[in-house]
Amino acid sequence: MIVISCSHGKHLGKKIAQKAGAQYSELFLDKFPDNELRVRIQKDVKSKEVIFVQSFYGQINDLIVECILAAETTKELGAKKVKLVAPYFPYLRQDKRFNPGEAISQAIIGKLFGKYFDEIFVMDPHLHRTKSLNDVFSVKSQKLTANALIADYIKKKIKNPVIIGPDEESYKWAKHVADMIKVESRILKKKRYSSFHVEVRLNKKIDLGKRSVVIVDDIISTGYTIIETAKILRKLGAKKITCICVHGIFVNDCLEKLQREKIEVVACNTIPNKVSKIDVSGMFSIILRKQCP
Ligand code: R5P
Repeated sequence: MIVISCSHGKHLGKKIAQKAGAQYSELFLDKFPDNELRVRIQKDVKSKEVIFVQSFYGQINDLIVECILAAETTKELGAKKVKLVAPYFPYLRQDKRFNPGEAISQAIIGKLFGKYFDEIFVMDPHLHRTKSLNDVFSVKSQKLTANALIADYIKKKIKNPVIIGPDEESYKWAKHVADMIKVESRILKKKRYSSFHVEVRLNKKIDLGKRSVVIVDDIISTGYTIIETAKILRKLGAKKITCICVHGIFVNDCLEKLQREKIEVVACNTIPNKVSKIDVSGMFSIILRKQCP
């Protein structure tokens, strides 16, 4: 087995390879003057199982093209299987035609990746109406979750926590994490009017005065969900608020905005940034080791 980091996989690829006992390499990537990509596989992949690592944050569309060029080349060079480890996989939120004529991006991007990879591993995919990752990809896929790592982090670092999920969908993280460490949780209701306008409300009151409040969610993008949630929690007496997410996308000045609101932010390193303190590499290496003992 050989693990190859694509341009946004280097922060995890080497660790995953080491922990899985696999060979390691990096994809050579260059740009032509007109921005077309040029990729090169730098190791002999003939008859090998090749695992690409790519996390799709930032210039997502370029990262997709890079991955597809790499996967197809690897097959042409005789690899036995070509698989993808995607710590953060994009385009999953657009799972229906919200407005007439809109693309259902989740299905289209899923179909595209299924053409080039034999198996796909995704950490905490944002699936709402789609029940399973197998409904996104036509090839074999596996969902991993960072819940146990987040639970462990809270257990070690936060005393007397109460867990808050900022919207109905967040129960898969907030409720599950709370159950793992056996503490109380509440799930709020959210209405999103636009990317930059959300409203949240809490049905059942709770006194937060003496508790460490921990908001747990899968994604923080603009940060508005967390900011609006924190406003409600402050009214209920919350003093110290920590917010833990799996994927810290943090668009524009999101992190600064959250810091101004005195919210401590912690993320997993599916996307590397200055608050990505929870390492998910071990989770991927365990799965890979099981596949190729
Ligand atoms: C949505 O359902 C997700 O779980 C997050 O709550 C959402 O993506 C956060 O977005 P933002 O940070 O832009 O409010």
